[in-house]
Amino acid sequence: MLTVLNRHMKRLFLALGLVLLSASLGSCGSDKPTSPALTTRVSWPSVTVKTPNNSGYRTPALSGPVPRNPDLDLRADCSKVVGISFTRVPVTDKYIAMTFDDGPHPQNTPRLLDMLRARNIKATFYVVGSNVDLYPQIVRRTVAEGHEIGNHSYTHGWFTKMSDSEIREELSRCRDAVGRAAGVQPRTLRPPYGGLLQRQREWVHAEFGYPTVLWSVDPLDWKRPGPSVVCSRILSSTTPGSIILSHDLHAPTVDAMPATLDGLLRRGFKFVTVSQLLAMQGGGITAQASVHAPVP
Ligand code: NI
Repeated sequence: MLTVLNRHMKRLFLALGLVLLSASLGSCGSDKPTSPALTTRVSWPSVTVKTPNNSGYRTPALSGPVPRNPDLDLRADCSKVVGISFTRVPVTDKYIAMTFDDGPHPQNTPRLLDMLRARNIKATFYVVGSNVDLYPQIVRRTVAEGHEIGNHSYTHGWFTKMSDSEIREELSRCRDAVGRAAGVQPRTLRPPYGGLLQRQREWVHAEFGYPTVLWSVDPLDWKRPGPSVVCSRILSSTTPGSIILSHDLHAPTVDAMPATLDGLLRRGFKFVTVSQLLAMQGGGITAQASVHAPVP
């Protein structure tokens, strides 16, 4: 009897050891969809959410003023003065900006928001205006949870093939859709496919105040290589000041996020929004420890 028990105990310890070993190595996991590590899936709308990192989070109301993240306290003209285009930002500490393009998506974006909230991570969403008009409540929630919204056009066409007036229309329509949905204005632009000529970047910056924000880390997640590949590509390429490209439009990308976000946190990276990262260059703002503080 004792021998049988011993054998069971040995198996138990072996299994436990393997689990701890894989956790400490920061594995990107298998390609099977994973549920959020902290199991705080909450469907929108709900009332109060408790997570290990954020005990007092309250889901915002669907009507009335949109609650704002007090950490996003930047000058109104900050994006206009920082510069015309960026792929990354030279910073002295381990700050990075995670960006998600092409949403909002009715399932993937709320699932991603749950993952970000569970870790108290703030990100930037480059939304497509036509999707904002379809799912305004998701954009509203995104803003209320402290994330930043960037302009990614209204129809996701190639700007390099458009006239100036067509680009102007694309940017205005997306900006207005975001304003209607969440009462905020985008501060930066990511052109669809990253395509924008220097001449276009300059007039867009002068007219809309948008720096063109590209990226320095591209996991090519739109090719759907599988969550573990997306995760390992991001973990191996991210350095301080990185702007990381990904797409909340694709379910496998969102599946990759728990391991990716946890891996980046374990490596000591601190997440800020794109505007916060841009504002750090030249000491424009000091990065506050409160960037990871709970949203009230
Ligand atoms: Ni896009």
